[in-house]
Amino acid sequence: MSLLELDGVKVHFPIKKGIFVDRTVGHVYAVDGVSLKVEAGETYGLVGESGCGKTTLGRSVLRLVDITEGSVVLDGTDLAKLPGEEMRRFRRRLQMVFQDPLGSLNPRQNIESILSEGMIAHGIGKDQEERREKIKSILDKVGLPSNALSRYPHEFSGGQRQRIGIARALVLEPDVIICDEPVSALDVSVQAQVINLLDELQEELGLTYLVIAHDLAVVRHISDTIGVMYLGSLVEEAPSDALYAEPKHPYTKALMSAVPVPDPEVEDRRERILLTGDLPSPANPPSGCRFHTRCPWAQAERCATERPQLRDLGDGHRVACHFAEEIASGELALTRPTGIEAVTEGEGAVVEQTEDEAKVPAVLLPADSTTKPDATAVKEKVPSAAEAPGDRTAGAVAKDLDAAGPDASDSDKEQDKTG
Ligand SMILES: Nc1ncnc2c1ncn2[C@@H]1O[C@H](COP(=O)(O)OP(=O)(O)OP(=O)(O)O)[C@@H](O)[C@H]1O
Ligand code: SF4
Ligand SMILES: [Mg+2]
Repeated sequence: MSLLELDGVKVHFPIKKGIFVDRTVGHVYAVDGVSLKVEAGETYGLVGESGCGKTTLGRSVLRLVDITEGSVVLDGTDLAKLPGEEMRRFRRRLQMVFQDPLGSLNPRQNIESILSEGMIAHGIGKDQEERREKIKSILDKVGLPSNALSRYPHEFSGGQRQRIGIARALVLEPDVIICDEPVSALDVSVQAQVINLLDELQEELGLTYLVIAHDLAVVRHISDTIGVMYLGSLVEEAPSDALYAEPKHPYTKALMSAVPVPDPEVEDRRERILLTGDLPSPANPPSGCRFHTRCPWAQAERCATERPQLRDLGDGHRVACHFAEEIASGELALTRPTGIEAVTEGEGAVVEQTEDEAKVPAVLLPADSTTKPDATAVKEKVPSAAEAPGDRTAGAVAKDLDAAGPDASDSDKEQDKTG
């Protein structure tokens, strides 16, 4: 049995209306049937667009939101069924590190007080002296000086504050740490250092992580398994290397194609899929496959009517797409090539789009693509992935992570001292 197992977890928020009496007029299907397993000592990376339900799923594990349906089993105990007091005790074993390190630390408390709070609540340490010694040793582990104890959150840099957030989780000796966008509020250079710190702590303390991010480059280096979420559900899950080597779901392919590759030759040749159109509202999700309104391969039959389940395609690679095999083999032609017109003059030709065409996904393919036989070469009208600000961050992080050696957190310590 895995350390943490989610089975068919649903979190539906009621939408209420009415002046005198609240009536439920609908639901936000924030999480809509997620099953996943996190093995002890491993990292599960959860990625997906903003609003797809990542944070709600993380919060549901800690029972910070009500679970509408499904089970969350930690070490054999179903947390969804635990009465309040028992759940409070179990919560020590599950800790969360938040996206906004400053917002999650009380500005009026010094670091000793912030870190002691949870220890007192859970009866860790027989007196303040013992708790202080433990806090000092954890501060040392996360690369902060022990004189940090008497200082306040505003006196620290962003990277240091996130280290405090990690220390606050560690002092409670948790089994699982849920890191919700742990580095997205940080500078790119500091992002890599915090990710490396999480990695080192996992090795030293045998921690288990569920790391939530909207950016594939961030989770790549620390995740053993990656799950891709779209509109409340997992659309693909695979061992990290397999997912990067061969993404099989059209949504993952699109996400992956937005991450720049450091090698310019590979960057020029690779398939690029640009999804246009917003994420549909989770209060009114599309029928059938939830991705069919944006999927470049959506088929007339099945896709709009039948919801695909996650299927194991071998070696733990699970995909929720009726046509994953046909897309992988190139058998299935694109059904939405209208976002771009194929041009034969080679790179440099600019593709004109009508207003209607601009609403559907624009799929950019390399000259030798077999997926779309008539597309030979297409030039984007939009900025390239490498130029897009969000994507530049992703690529830079990837490079930083590659470049950052085991000593990266030391350089962060230096930087944080001056920061
Ligand atoms: N307490 C709530 N009541 C009603 N709707 C909610 C509540 N919390 C979240 N939602 C909705 O649920 C959906 C999923 O939100 P969530 O915060 O989980 O997304 P996310 O993937 O974490 O996004 P981001 O990457 O922006 O953090 C959103 O549409 C959000 O508006
Ligand atoms: S099931 Fe259909 S719409 Fe959904 S991802 Fe697969 S091809 Fe696209
Ligand atoms: Mg979130």
